[in-house]
Amino acid sequence: MIDPWSSAIVNYEKLIEEFGIKPFHDLLGDIENPHILMRRGIVFGHRDFGRIIKAIREKSEFAVVTGMMPSGKMHIGHKMIVDQLTWYQEKGAEIHIPIADMESYSARGIDFNEAKRIAIEEYITNYIALGLDPDNEKLHIYLQSENKIVGDLAYKLAKRVNMNEMKAIYGFSGSTNIAHIYAPLIQVADILHPQIKECGGPKPTVVPVGPDQDPHIRLTRDIAERFQSQFEFITPSSTYHRFITGLTGGKMSSSKPKTAIFLSDTPEVAEKKLKSAKTGGRESLEEQKKMGGVPEDCVVYEMLLYHLIQSDDELKEIYHQCREGSIMCGECKARSAEMMKNFFKNFHKKREKAKDKAESILDL
Ligand code: TRP
Ligand code: SF4
Repeated sequence: MIDPWSSAIVNYEKLIEEFGIKPFHDLLGDIENPHILMRRGIVFGHRDFGRIIKAIREKSEFAVVTGMMPSGKMHIGHKMIVDQLTWYQEKGAEIHIPIADMESYSARGIDFNEAKRIAIEEYITNYIALGLDPDNEKLHIYLQSENKIVGDLAYKLAKRVNMNEMKAIYGFSGSTNIAHIYAPLIQVADILHPQIKECGGPKPTVVPVGPDQDPHIRLTRDIAERFQSQFEFITPSSTYHRFITGLTGGKMSSSKPKTAIFLSDTPEVAEKKLKSAKTGGRESLEEQKKMGGVPEDCVVYEMLLYHLIQSDDELKEIYHQCREGSIMCGECKARSAEMMKNFFKNFHKKREKAKDKAESILDL
């Protein structure tokens, strides 16, 4: 069982074996200009993504839904989802971004006003600064608690889900509070509502998420099929990305500041943090010259792979230099930290510009 509200690290291979998630790699050849995260295997799995590839190719309508639970600060790992959204937006997608204030209230005890503040100051501001076009008319950002269509749909869909099923999927027990039990139904409605008549009717929909969200995806897909005759839902597709490793080697987590580079960090702090990150280097310089480093175990390399280097050739070059021991961690780190600093300098300017827009977007 996967618990979407815990912070346990998931085993990616197991997901593919046990839960029927398909390797993303097999589809790459069919996608025109795949996103860098797809090309580099960071988006590693999917369910029914073929439908989305077809819609993109035929330029027919499709939707993307991915929410955020406003619970704390955004770190650099969260950037991945925005990068994918930007890519989908360029492909003409209708994009829905629910702010899961009902979920953060029920699972984390954060009240609605606080959630709204976090959503605007952190999430929405960052999303715009990272490149999402806020003026695109097919972009919809909303608070779960204020969306009547989603609330009503959740209630209707809940009619065909029972407690045994919720226990089996999420491990809920007799003492779980009912708001928490109900929260996944809101998420199901987040994902399915673009397909109801008022919102344009059935259309392929993809949900790009981390694998911790897969229980919600499975529930949504089941429910979509149960209501097939009523709503004619097209079973939603999904993609799954690997999480970025924390600076100290475990999971990157907003609640553990030592593990994370926050999007609100100053360029200098971000630079310093990367310089202190765990690398795949050897005990001594001599050993590293002889045996080479291990980029697969290196947080610095991961930052280059996920975020800092766009050119595949340039990245490959660093990979080989590391492996053959012709570059040492000190130099490599300094160079990467410099790139990180520049990224943040640029990003912070964009953040300042995005602030006003972020304030107004929920009132539209
Ligand atoms: N549960 C998600 C999280 O923890 C947030 C979320 C809400 C979501 N609605 C969604 C994700 C719809 C994908 C699709 O961050
Ligand atoms: Fe990581 Fe660079 Fe050291 Fe290789 S040389 S282990 S990529 S920091």
